[in-house]
Amino acid sequence: MGIVIAAASGKGGTGKTSFCANVGVALCALGEKVLLIDADAGLRSLDLVLGMTDRLLFSWADVMEGRASLKEAAVQHPVVKNMRVLTAPAQAAEQTALGGERTAELLRRAREHFTFALVDCSAGVGSDITDFCSLADRAVIVATGDQTSLRSAQRMAAELAAEGQEDIKIVVNRLRLNMIRRGDQTNIDRAMDASGIALLGAVPEDDRVIACGNRGELLIMHPCRARTAYMNIARRLRGERVQLLEGVKGRF
Ligand SMILES: Nc1ncnc2c1ncn2[C@@H]1O[C@H](COP(=O)(O)OP(=O)(O)O)[C@@H](O)[C@H]1O
Ligand SMILES: [Mg+2]
Repeated sequence: MGIVIAAASGKGGTGKTSFCANVGVALCALGEKVLLIDADAGLRSLDLVLGMTDRLLFSWADVMEGRASLKEAAVQHPVVKNMRVLTAPAQAAEQTALGGERTAELLRRAREHFTFALVDCSAGVGSDITDFCSLADRAVIVATGDQTSLRSAQRMAAELAAEGQEDIKIVVNRLRLNMIRRGDQTNIDRAMDASGIALLGAVPEDDRVIACGNRGELLIMHPCRARTAYMNIARRLRGERVQLLEGVKGRF
């Protein structure tokens, strides 16, 4: 049985899509069979970041409503052969009538055919996001190291816990190590204190994340600290103990 992980956030633009794409690829590099689900109806973006815009014909709404099978709708990545991507409906309105039961059925099928499914949610809570997050086996809240982002992560965690999700961890993204060193950005210990959520990983700010996302290229092909950070997260998700990157503990 596979594991479904929902990536959520309080604020927008914290790095959920980058997390799903890069951790998904990293899990595949470690031999896992991965399904990426774009849950961001109306504002889907995983297809762009992965360079698959022209390939995705059916969405999960089509699977839930029986217009396509999961195999037809979840399209294989052109390079990462053990990764498939299931996109969101292009119109947000399409999703509203779907409800928890159909989401549960979709995730049941995902667990059956894949070892990991990563669900890329939109920011904040809405009924679809609450369904995906509460029906997932785990939720990961992606935040930046800014105080406002950490506070909204804390709120989000409380909402997801109230909806019944018991396994919630945080990824602190876009950490600027020179700012941490100077004491101008929170270090990882303080970020955990501020959010009150257990840590899954810390990802440094890295121009290559932006460049690869814009080009639809794989970050894993470019050696850099962000690549190492995403790979470390993938290892932790598989149960390995992996140390944090140097420099994120720093002072504040
Ligand atoms: N670690 C990082 N370093 C630099 N830029 C990042 C990093 N993570 C995400 N970004 C950039 O931040 C922007 C928002 O990221 P995205 O993953 O789309 O966030 P979300 O899905 O939460 O809205 C994108 O331009 C992305 O390339
Ligand atoms: Mg996104």
